Amino acid sequence: MNQGELNHLLGIKGLTASQIHTIFDTADNFLNLLQAPVKKTPALRDITIANLFFENSTRTRVSFELAEKRLGADIINFSSSSSSVKKGETLIDTVNNILSMKVDMIVMRHPAPGACMFLAKNVKSQIINAGDGTHEHPTQALLDAFSIKNRLGSLEGKKVVIVGDIKHSRVALSNIYSLQLLGAEVMVCGPATLIPKYINQLGVKVSHNLDEALAWCDVANMLRIQLERQDQRFFPSLNEYTNLYGLNMNRLNKLDKEICIMHPGPINRGVEISSEVADSNQSIILQQVENGVAVRMAVLFLLAQHKL
Ligand code: CP
Repeated sequence: MNQGELNHLLGIKGLTASQIHTIFDTADNFLNLLQAPVKKTPALRDITIANLFFENSTRTRVSFELAEKRLGADIINFSSSSSSVKKGETLIDTVNNILSMKVDMIVMRHPAPGACMFLAKNVKSQIINAGDGTHEHPTQALLDAFSIKNRLGSLEGKKVVIVGDIKHSRVALSNIYSLQLLGAEVMVCGPATLIPKYINQLGVKVSHNLDEALAWCDVANMLRIQLERQDQRFFPSLNEYTNLYGLNMNRLNKLDKEICIMHPGPINRGVEISSEVADSNQSIILQQVENGVAVRMAVLFLLAQHKL
């Protein structure tokens, strides 16, 4: 989108508010299409897309695959566990081999921060970042902002708190960039050990008290503890974490307003969010997933048309 004539989506950083509004306007049209009896358009029938997932995923992988199918694209799915990556092939060689079979676009999730940027510089294909390590998860941030807009009418002036493991979260970083671009105020909340030291450079508020953060916000985006990215302990026990930072009905009932509850998934019920809250009317967690298909259709369509 922003990086050269091939057009990629490598992160929210580098996008403009106008580009995000274009994505949202296009996603609105696709959301209407997805409500219709025939949920398909042949818009990308001449395009072949490879979904390369070097890390586990449920929502993002299925959502991209559905978005591509709804747009009529040909697709191939690749997971590292069953590929020749296990035999020592480099990322560039793997991707160049796939591209030689006339693939037009790569959607990639990878555990290494910057892997998508590296690929974009070294292969001739459009690259869409489906999450790169602790760095960015741009389509998640786009669908999150789109979901807030659909629930609250606009992002302008809204107060959004992102709660939990900010340090290891690509969702947090991409959300901070997108929410600020669209005029929202952002706070991060969690134990000091899970808030990165560079956070002050991002212009966000910081709180270590969930009840104060909830009293401040219009929207709470709850993140899970990313144990798979932690090689040391950042708090004494999950019980203590839940007592201080878990969102439950007791906490919501103390507020004099209804806030909107979000979670990018996967949820750890009873840790960062109780089942009662996750399944309540204040939660838009499943709407986020539903909107994700339309937002990803918009990104794929606009990139393929070089319209961003
Ligand atoms: N939100 C998200 O990225 O979920 P998955 O890891 O299941 O794709």
